[in-house]
Amino acid sequence: MAQATAVKMDNNHQTSARLGVEHDFREQIAFSAEQTVDYHRPVLVMSRQRLRANVRRFMAAMPRVRPHFAVKANPDREILQIFKDEGAYFEIASIAELDAMIALGEEMETVFYSNPIKSPASIAHAANHGVLWYCVDTPEEVEKIAKIQPDAKLYLRITVSNEGSSWPLAGKFGAGFNAVEGIIAAAKQHDMQLSGVTFHVGSQCCNIDNWVSGIRAAKRVFAQLTSHGFMPELLNLGGGYPLQFNGDEPSIEQIGEAINRELETIPDDIQVMAEPGRFLAGSAGCLVSQIVGIATRDDARWVYLDAGVYGGLMELTMDFPLSLVSERTGDSGLWTLAGPTCDSIDVMGRHQLPANSAAGDFIYMPNLGAYCTTCASDFNGFPVPILRMVD
Ligand SMILES: Cc1ncc(COP(=O)(O)O)c(C=O)c1O
Repeated sequence: MAQATAVKMDNNHQTSARLGVEHDFREQIAFSAEQTVDYHRPVLVMSRQRLRANVRRFMAAMPRVRPHFAVKANPDREILQIFKDEGAYFEIASIAELDAMIALGEEMETVFYSNPIKSPASIAHAANHGVLWYCVDTPEEVEKIAKIQPDAKLYLRITVSNEGSSWPLAGKFGAGFNAVEGIIAAAKQHDMQLSGVTFHVGSQCCNIDNWVSGIRAAKRVFAQLTSHGFMPELLNLGGGYPLQFNGDEPSIEQIGEAINRELETIPDDIQVMAEPGRFLAGSAGCLVSQIVGIATRDDARWVYLDAGVYGGLMELTMDFPLSLVSERTGDSGLWTLAGPTCDSIDVMGRHQLPANSAAGDFIYMPNLGAYCTTCASDFNGFPVPILRMVD
């Protein structure tokens, strides 16, 4: 069992400053430092206060936009309950996420099934439990839902620019301009209610224009729907709201300002919602990990952690701007960061850490409250991080 190491705020602040870590992260590291007592596997420490603050901040920035937390970002039961208590609703992508909604006692008319491609079994499961709203982006999906739940309400996912987002989603999902008429035709043919429009600007999107042009594109689709006799009632702004890693990213207030301005042209009887995942959960979580070994290979210094690509750090394979804070102080050096498994893809780029880092050091990684534990597997027998809630 590892010896507990109490990281003092001052000490930590110096480390943070030296590594170029933003002031804001000190809070996350402070509440995580206590979690090294009885440490035996990586710990994702989640702050209840921060989760609540994130929902409140989102709602204050966009009063007209109802947040539906994207459950995929972090489906932990207590986290969902906190969001529910704060007045947020939910967006789901699978049977398991629907079951989480049932366990939470959600009203199913408020649950949005936003995965554009759903198995017939999952649609039947959702229909049996009273889910009303389903995303579509192909005529085939319209037909599939029509056969299982003819009274469903559909919202059409259109493709919009994902430029400036760290995890673009365009390409895999979303109907292009030329595909919209075909989906409208399928809805008419199967007598389905095509009642809304949605888009996703890409995850960790730092380009505010994507939302602005998305809302404008949605307005054009509303006009198309109306001309075909449909009565649009929903605008779903999707997810993508970014975390602020280094201050270059737009704040939720800046994004809100642009969205609110654009929404002035959307009629009042259109319900507006969004599906934030990363923004609501990400900054509430800090991953505590431990160095298991160091090595020098061809002059490069390697540090091996007990958490890696398989164990909570999957997003590091795609340019996640990770901040690493060591409990150790001293001059920093450049290290190649690797996870504990035997797989060569379990390598996470080069990062600054103290030059005298050693096995046993605790490493804190702020901003990992979303897409960390939920994307982890115990490949090679290494345990996935446990999640601990703190006030
Ligand atoms: C349909 C849908 N909605 C919402 C989200 C949440 O996105 P983010 O975490 O970037 O806010 C995702 C993420 O993949 C998604 O696919």
